[in-house]
Order: sequence, then structure tokens, then C-alpha cells
Amino acid sequence: MTVLITGGAGFIGSHCCVSFLEAGHDIVVLDNLSNASSLSLERVAAITGRKVSFVVGDIRDQAEVEEVLHRYKCTAVVHFAGLKSVGESTKMPISYYDNNVVGTLRLLSAMDNAGVRQMIFSSSATVYGEPQFLPLTEDHPTSAVNPYGRTKLMIEEMLRDVAASDPNWRFGILRYFNPVGAHDSGLIGENPLGIPNNLMPFITQVADGRREQLAVFGNDYETADGTGVRDYIHVSDLVDGHLRAHEVLAEGAAPSNCFTVNLGTGNGYSVLEMVRAFERASNKEIGFSFSPRREGDVAECYAHTERAEQLLNWKAKRDLDAMCRDTWNWVCKNPAGYAAEAAE
Ligand code: NAD
Ligand code: UFG
Repeated sequence: MTVLITGGAGFIGSHCCVSFLEAGHDIVVLDNLSNASSLSLERVAAITGRKVSFVVGDIRDQAEVEEVLHRYKCTAVVHFAGLKSVGESTKMPISYYDNNVVGTLRLLSAMDNAGVRQMIFSSSATVYGEPQFLPLTEDHPTSAVNPYGRTKLMIEEMLRDVAASDPNWRFGILRYFNPVGAHDSGLIGENPLGIPNNLMPFITQVADGRREQLAVFGNDYETADGTGVRDYIHVSDLVDGHLRAHEVLAEGAAPSNCFTVNLGTGNGYSVLEMVRAFERASNKEIGFSFSPRREGDVAECYAHTERAEQLLNWKAKRDLDAMCRDTWNWVCKNPAGYAAEAAE
């Protein structure tokens, strides 16, 4: 009864490893380390007191994935592996379709051959495109405006087709809103390479002096203070949602063999509210200036959370102050992410 966690060395995947190990599941991680360090898994072992089985490998290598599924007697997969930067996806669409869409197809074929028919998939609120109404329910129309978003939509559709072909398949499609925060031990967290695209890692680098100031993209949106509003969710809450989804699928308790659920808090916070919350948590001043809107950004995006509450019996527990406090704790304890230890 082992769960294969693809992309398990990454930001969300490493937190998921902790959550599954602490719940008593056996896991094996498959990750090609294209955006991660294997040190994250040593830290997972330190937090949980359990050894983590790890295979350096690529989801596009169908034979290897199949061999891993057999060797570890896997019964389910939690699938995080993939590329995730919207901006990069517009410059390298082939890599995005290859890693995300082709990778998932190879993974599904390997699962099919190995007789493993349960998967949880990391989708994204990006599939809703420009909100037509708020909060976003799972039935909101989907549209994607960049290659990254299109890969997520294509994969979702692939999974629904596979589910419809054979009731033995079980899929949980989880649409994440904006994952932030870190494990409260400060041992694992987000480790962005280069200049961060996302708000929270950028703010942390202003707080610790690595960047001079934050560029706030747009202050003329129709929101309370004119800046963009998002539904930030603590990564530890997010991965607990995966644990619940895994249990619901394994028990056969879902109303259908393929469900789609939002994972968010239902609360929207503006960029300026995030800046102030981070200032409180870090006791540092976050310098910022207003810049033009970033292309492709929506004004507001936050989740309707009722389906997750009813289907998974799950609700995010941690508030914005905890998200900022845990992020700052991780950054203070690991100013160079995993890089400093990796260089020793
Ligand atoms: P991450 O980059 O930290 O984790 C992804 C992991 O997958 C990395 O460890 C990387 O090395 C690995 N990987 C990439 N391509 C691979 C391949 N072909 N074979 C094997 N391993 C591969 O990203 P994350 O933030 O932890 O995101 C995890 C998943 O959640 C991704 O699918 C992402 O698209 C999705 N997601 C993330 C966010 C977010 O804001 N972080 C929001 C919505 C959805
Ligand atoms: N922002 C700034 N300055 C920055 C970075 C971001 O003002 O330097 C603003 C953005 O304009 C937006 C908000 O902060 O209003 C959040 O931006 P992020 O880049 O952190 O997050 P997004 O909502 O744009 O996108 C994230 C992931 C996507 C995912 C989406 C929904 O990056 O992959 O959440 O899950 F699809």
C-alpha cells in the first residue's frame, strides 16, 4: 500500500510527503530534480522520523515509472511533477507540453500497465481564466490564456476521458489557489531559483534584503485598494486536502470516479494586505512602488470552498498571519534555501 508521489522533492510535494508519512502511509518519491533539491527529502525524514524512498527519475520515462510502481507495490499516485511558471511557459511551450501533458500521459500508461488506477492531480485556479463571478465554483467555465494553463486543462480533460472509459479508475483533480507558507519546523519550504515570479517569495527577498523593493503590479483594479486580490492558502493545509482526497478515493467514498475540487480558503487578500501582513510577521519594512499591471493577471480570484468541505470534510485552518510567520521562519533558518547545505 505505497503511494507514489511524483515531484515529491518540490515545494508542495515535500510537504505532502510529511502529511502522508505522518498519517502512516508508505511513500516513494519520483522526481527528476529539475526544480528541486534532494535535501528536501532528507528534511522530510528529519521531520517525520521516517526514511523516504526516493528514485531520481522522469515521469516521461514510462518503463522506469512502471518498474517503480511494481517494485514498491504502489496502489495510488499523487502527481505533482511538472513545470509551473506562466511566464516561462510562453517562452518554452514545447517543454511545458512535454513535461506536463506528455509526462502525464506516460505516467497514466505506466499506471495502466501496472494496474494502479488511482491518481490525485495538481491542477490550478488558472483554469478559470477571467472570473465571470466570484467566489469561483468548480462549475465556473474554464479557459486558459497561456500554455501552462492549457497544459492543466488538457490534463484535466485527459483524466475525465480515462475515468469515463473504465469505472476502476479513480481521479481527484485538485485546483489550487495560491499556495504559500512553509512547514512550521522551518525545515522545508519554497526554494525559488532566480528572480521569483510569485508575490510571497518576492516579498520575503525584500524583507531579507536580497531585493530592494517590490513592484506592485497595478493599483487601478476594481478592488478595495486597487491592487490584485488572491486566495492564499497555507501549503500545510493544502497537502492535508490531498490526504483527505486520497482517503476519499481509496475508500470509494466519492460520488463519482473523477471529482474536481477547489483547494483555497475562500478569502481574498490584496497585494497591499499581503505586504502589511508580512511586515507584521517579519518586523521588517517592505519597500514597494506601483508598476503597470502584469499581462494576463486578473483583478480578483478566490475560491468557493463548499465542495471541498462536503466531499473531503476538509477546510483550510491556518490564517494569513500563520502563512507569513511560517514563510519568514523558513527563510530566516535557510537564507539560501537548500543551496547552502548542498554546497557543503
Ligand atoms: P515545484 O517545481 O516545487 O515541484 C515540481 C516538482 O516536479 C519539482 O521537484 C521538479 O523537480 C519535478 N519535476 C518537474 N518535471 C518533472 C518530470 N518530467 N519528471 C519528474 N519530476 C519532474 O512546484 P510546486 O509549487 O511544488 O508545484 C507542484 C504542482 O502543483 C505542479 O504541478 C504545479 O503546476 C501545481 N501548482 C502549483 C501552484 C503554485 O503556486 N505553487 C499553483 C497551482 C498548481
Ligand atoms: N504581484 C505583484 N508583484 C510581484 C508578484 C506578484 O504585485 O512581484 C501580484 C500579482 O499581480 C497578483 C498577486 O501579486 O495580483 C499574486 O501573484 P502571484 O504571481 O503570486 O500569483 P498568481 O495568482 O498570478 O499565480 C499563481 C501561480 C499560478 C497559478 C495561480 C492560480 O503562479 O501558477 O496562482 O493557482 F496558476
